[in-house]
Amino acid sequence: MRYLVTGAAGQLGAAFSRRLGTRGDDLVALTRRELDLTDSAAVVAAVVAARPDTILNCAAYNAVDQAEDDASGALAVNAFAVHDLARAAAGVGATLVHYSTDFVFDGMATSPYREDDPTNPRSVYGQSKLVGEWLALEAPRSYVLRVESLFGGPATRSSIDRIIATLRSGEPTRVFIDRVVSPSYVEDVIDATLALLSLDAPGGIYHCVNSGSTTWHGLAEVIARLLGTQGALEAVRMDDVPMRAPRPRYCALSNARLGALGVEMPGWQDALARHIRSRD
Ligand SMILES: NC(=O)c1ccc[n+]([C@@H]2O[C@H](COP(=O)([O-])OP(=O)(O)OC[C@H]3O[C@@H](n4cnc5c(N)ncnc54)[C@H](OP(=O)(O)O)[C@@H]3O)[C@@H](O)[C@H]2O)c1
Repeated sequence: MRYLVTGAAGQLGAAFSRRLGTRGDDLVALTRRELDLTDSAAVVAAVVAARPDTILNCAAYNAVDQAEDDASGALAVNAFAVHDLARAAAGVGATLVHYSTDFVFDGMATSPYREDDPTNPRSVYGQSKLVGEWLALEAPRSYVLRVESLFGGPATRSSIDRIIATLRSGEPTRVFIDRVVSPSYVEDVIDATLALLSLDAPGGIYHCVNSGSTTWHGLAEVIARLLGTQGALEAVRMDDVPMRAPRPRYCALSNARLGALGVEMPGWQDALARHIRSRD
């Protein structure tokens, strides 16, 4: 199996490159500097040159607030580049794996979202990712995995890593008490992706988060316990924090579709424990 990883310097892209490299897989991993996905001709040329069996598109425009004033920038990476990748994948007979987000939902649900629940993105970022899903699914063989509050991997740029750092510093840690999430540990996302590919599972959209859900405050409490710190948590409400882009308030995702294939996602507490151990 030959893989092409795009966005190879990001959280997921770097972790994927490390995992596939360790396994000794045939891998072409390209950072933004090596392949700017907004350059259509370069995308086609890179895919033709790499001749991958599978394209793992780990690149994204993830600046959620900035996207509100930069729709064209967000759409260029999260949507139009995905269209180019889907066409290029079709050209070489590759499978396209693309990652999306809970932000395609409005967060008004009261039970975990399933893949076929109606989408209703409230932010430009969410809208650009939704269009990207549609375009990824135009590839003859494609998977769209919706992940959420991603953490882990060689980079330490996630919100969870920020909470870990603040708790370790002893500073008060401000966390939402009314925003519900199902976080995704990159190592578990990688396992699920590789399982879907090796099962030759039906294409389409899959939710891919650690099992269960909690508030950011609940997450921070477990992190503090795992770290053995007494760091003070300051509970804040979403309405009290001005944010340029709206965030979905309730965004637990159901992994039922993965589960039906026998791909079980570990619980979020277990994932946090493994992540913290890996950083020690
Ligand atoms: N992080 C989350 O909490 C989260 C939540 C839900 C969904 N997701 C989705 O999960 C996937 C992986 O996210 P992540 O957290 O690994 O993202 P990340 O750490 O922000 O990495 C994204 C990578 O994409 C690269 N990139 C941006 N524009 C590009 C372009 N024009 N051409 C090529 N590469 C470009 C970035 O390059 P630079 O390094 O140069 O910036 C970065 O390395 C994405 O699809 C994201 O939307 C993430």
